[in-house]
Amino acid sequence: MNAHPMLKAGVIGLGVGERHISGYERHPNCRVTRLADFCAEKRAEVAKRHPERRMTDSAADVLDDPEIDIVSIASYDQHHFDQVMHALDRGKHIFVEKPLVLTEEHARQVREKLRGSPHLRISSNLILRRCPRFIWLREQIRSGAFGQIFHIDADYQYGRIHKLLSGWRGELPGYSLVMGGAVHMVDLVLWLTGDRPVEVTAFGNRIATAGSAFTNFDLVRALIRFESGLVVSAGCNGGCVHPHFHKLEVYGTEASFVNGLESAFVYRSRDPGTVPETITEAYPGVDKGDLLEDFVEAVLHDREPEVGQDAVFNALALCFAIERAAHSGRPEPVRDI
Ligand SMILES: NC(=O)c1ccc[n+]([C@@H]2O[C@H](COP(=O)([O-])OP(=O)(O)OC[C@H]3O[C@@H](n4cnc5c(N)ncnc54)[C@H](O)[C@@H]3O)[C@@H](O)[C@H]2O)c1
Repeated sequence: MNAHPMLKAGVIGLGVGERHISGYERHPNCRVTRLADFCAEKRAEVAKRHPERRMTDSAADVLDDPEIDIVSIASYDQHHFDQVMHALDRGKHIFVEKPLVLTEEHARQVREKLRGSPHLRISSNLILRRCPRFIWLREQIRSGAFGQIFHIDADYQYGRIHKLLSGWRGELPGYSLVMGGAVHMVDLVLWLTGDRPVEVTAFGNRIATAGSAFTNFDLVRALIRFESGLVVSAGCNGGCVHPHFHKLEVYGTEASFVNGLESAFVYRSRDPGTVPETITEAYPGVDKGDLLEDFVEAVLHDREPEVGQDAVFNALALCFAIERAAHSGRPEPVRDI
């Protein structure tokens, strides 16, 4: 017999948010009952695929619905903070698309509020943790097969410049591709290494989007010093003429990993005659709803989800330091949130 209660979830924002629906419902104890989008065309389109769900134009209808236990916040970035705070006021568990919030001050306010509601779970869609190739890599690193990791190069190659030139990302003043894109690479590095970042130097430019309304850097490159001495080069490349790709090179004292679109390669020798090992584990191999079954499980069992609260705030903290460093031109500390 299934002893657990049936949980009800609601989703705000039906772009990537629509893909949360099937993610929740992979768990036998969760049903998505309410969907919100302020765009009438989007509501009509999604209603055709989900005729049985209650649809509303207002995020507040979901946030205030006493029957809803879990809220997915997949609205535009600039709405996340207010909706997260509202959801916490109403005692909801929250799965929020990245980035959780856009400023350090907002991040602190959310964390403070969470301290007052320790039973509420929060997670964010840092989905690369579910990529089979990166899971394989993490297991290798953890087994010691790579020796000590001393350098990582992690770049979010966007390959979707049109999204910066039009649509909400293009229209939001100061839209940050660090917070919206590099956050995936930052989280990946933190998850792969378990190391603590200390200080960041960064540069940026907007050559690729010059002459457009896009106001922030479309290219950011950061050098990050970690507690162990590890040096990571990480960033985002909004203008690259290249398919969407997560560039990842990991250098350990015993082996090197180089990601590729088709397969990855692992070098375990410096001998130029040695053929590298081809890694064929799927990449990206993830669906945007893949973390949700675990999130429901975490709510039901009152435990941290796979992407836990600390992980969400640690990734944000490093992104804020990168953004600060790129704009100040000075080394910036990573400040705990
Ligand atoms: N985890 C990932 O890999 C990933 C991928 C894409 C987008 N995202 C994030 O998801 C969020 C949405 O991006 P998207 O690509 O789905 O955008 P999108 O434009 O495709 O869809 C967003 C939808 O949300 C609706 N919406 C926005 N704000 C709303 C609000 N306050 N109330 C009601 N409806 C609202 C819009 O009308 C639109 O239909 C962003 O925060 C983005 O960073 C995450």
